[in-house]
Amino acid sequence: MWQTLEKRLNTTTDVTVIGLGPMGLALADLLLKAGRTVTLWNRSPGKADALVARGAVLAASPAEAIAASGTTLVCVLDYAAAETILAQDGVADAVRGRLVVNLGTGSPEDARRAEAWAHAHGARYLDGAIQAAPSQMGRPDTPLFVSGETAAFTQAEPLLRIVAGHLLHLGDAVDAAAFMDLATLSYVYGAYAGFLHGAHIAEVTGIDVATYGRLVHAIAPSFGAFFEHQGGVVAGGDFRATESPLRISVPAVRRILDTSRGLGINTELPGLVDGWLAKASARGLEGEELAALIKVLRR
Ligand SMILES: NC(=O)c1ccc[n+]([C@@H]2O[C@H](COP(=O)([O-])OP(=O)(O)OC[C@H]3O[C@@H](n4cnc5c(N)ncnc54)[C@H](OP(=O)(O)O)[C@@H]3O)[C@@H](O)[C@H]2O)c1
Repeated sequence: MWQTLEKRLNTTTDVTVIGLGPMGLALADLLLKAGRTVTLWNRSPGKADALVARGAVLAASPAEAIAASGTTLVCVLDYAAAETILAQDGVADAVRGRLVVNLGTGSPEDARRAEAWAHAHGARYLDGAIQAAPSQMGRPDTPLFVSGETAAFTQAEPLLRIVAGHLLHLGDAVDAAAFMDLATLSYVYGAYAGFLHGAHIAEVTGIDVATYGRLVHAIAPSFGAFFEHQGGVVAGGDFRATESPLRISVPAVRRILDTSRGLGINTELPGLVDGWLAKASARGLEGEELAALIKVLRR
């Protein structure tokens, strides 16, 4: 305790981490392992004990924590919790001239509000979205995307690369990371819905569901590459068929729908995609690349 106090009063550290849930602990652990000096603050201070034993400094308040470093990573439950912390005594003064990076999960509106607060208090701000579990942090391929002013990214980059090697700056618009988070989560939940429909087909037809799960793992990399290609098609706007003409998917999805009906199982998911494909066919898109299905979603 005495050593902690002594360090607290005399030390300026490389980085501050506010929030020591599973993710904040992982961030602080990686920064310490990389040889950075780290100040910590958490609502429940006991969670810092193991890190303090390894040389981290425990601040007595959020203001003291922010004042200790040029860059503060905030990683708490949500933006409401972050706002509660940043509303505490002394923070408004301590944050002036410093950089705050919020790595918690939030909405685009949360990000805009956080940036406005930081700028109103003379601070730089970056908003980030972590795309990995705590145990997956710190690898060369750990994905993390951030958005906000470029000067702030330049300042934070060396620290952020320690916690996530696959680091992307999405630009100056502060809400871009939150929008990208929603886009990638849309993919994840859509894929998950498809995975569960497939698992249900497997279980009612006597196929081993664990084997199905292994097969999904095996085909995931090639489908990842396929989606990357389809993203390029949508971005480029050239929908001429190159990999998979939309017409192939029309009977494929109809087969899933008809077979599900025949099995007497839930048909909502294949029914939804079949409906999109029917609209695409009606609009004469069958000869285009599958990515042309996005035209059905556009207003
Ligand atoms: N864990 C993951 O797999 C993962 C992956 C990607 C992104 N994230 C994001 O990372 C952020 C942190 O996640 P987590 O997994 O570390 O755990 P969490 O349970 O989401 O957050 C725990 C942290 O939030 C603090 N907290 C909660 N409410 C608070 C309040 N009202 N005032 C002050 N502090 C408060 C906790 O303090 P106490 O210790 O005092 O309770 C603790 O430091 C979240 O936004 C989460 O969505 C997590």
